[in-house]
Amino acid sequence: MFGLFKKKSTSATTPLADYGFVSVDLHSHVLPGIDDGAQTVEDSAVLIREMMDMGIKKIIATPHVMADYYRNNAQTINAALATLRQHLTSEGIDVEIEAAAEHYFDEFFMNLIDTDALMLINNKYVLFEMSFASKPHNVLPTVNKLTEKELIPIMAHPERYPYFTVQEAEQLRSWGCRMQINTISLTGYYGKGVKESAEAFIDAGLVDFISSDMHHPRHAEALRNALKMPYLAKLRDSGALQNSSLL
Ligand SMILES: [Fe+2]
Repeated sequence: MFGLFKKKSTSATTPLADYGFVSVDLHSHVLPGIDDGAQTVEDSAVLIREMMDMGIKKIIATPHVMADYYRNNAQTINAALATLRQHLTSEGIDVEIEAAAEHYFDEFFMNLIDTDALMLINNKYVLFEMSFASKPHNVLPTVNKLTEKELIPIMAHPERYPYFTVQEAEQLRSWGCRMQINTISLTGYYGKGVKESAEAFIDAGLVDFISSDMHHPRHAEALRNALKMPYLAKLRDSGALQNSSLL
């Protein structure tokens, strides 16, 4: 009876229409055949069409560069980019696409830093990921080394490292490291803990970029679902996102 007059909950947010407010996706595995993402140009085109349909204007492909698994370099990455661009043109798919890399935090990465051989986003950003199991001991000195070279490090998906805290993210940001969360983390795609961690980074105002980390069509489906997540609207409304500065 009393419930009849109860005020309707206002916690539900209207789903966002698309990712027009993001414009640029700076972390994806859409280059064909050089990592665990798209394997063929046809796979790439499926993912790219999905991203365009969701309002993404520019895609920066960031294949894995890892000593143990994917020893990609400028040659392999640029060759895959050229092949993909040719295919997109032949299919009439008109999208701005560039390539950089997702550098794994290992000895190979240190070597690339020392030899100025990193694959950069917009000539200054360095996207890097870390082990999901244990924290590397030299993150802060490495961030310092990069900023001394006038580069801007971006940590990929901090919410996916179980050992990585809001306090550590705050400290690294104060030293010039930027944070990129995976948009689909907000849906629970990687589990509840990752979702809560992504929300905690948003609540703390520590998120500079969001991206798809697109590997396959299941990620595209999750990306579409993420548009319904209230935390995405919160992040958009915060005005903190820097994605569109990469246009
Ligand atoms: Fe990735």
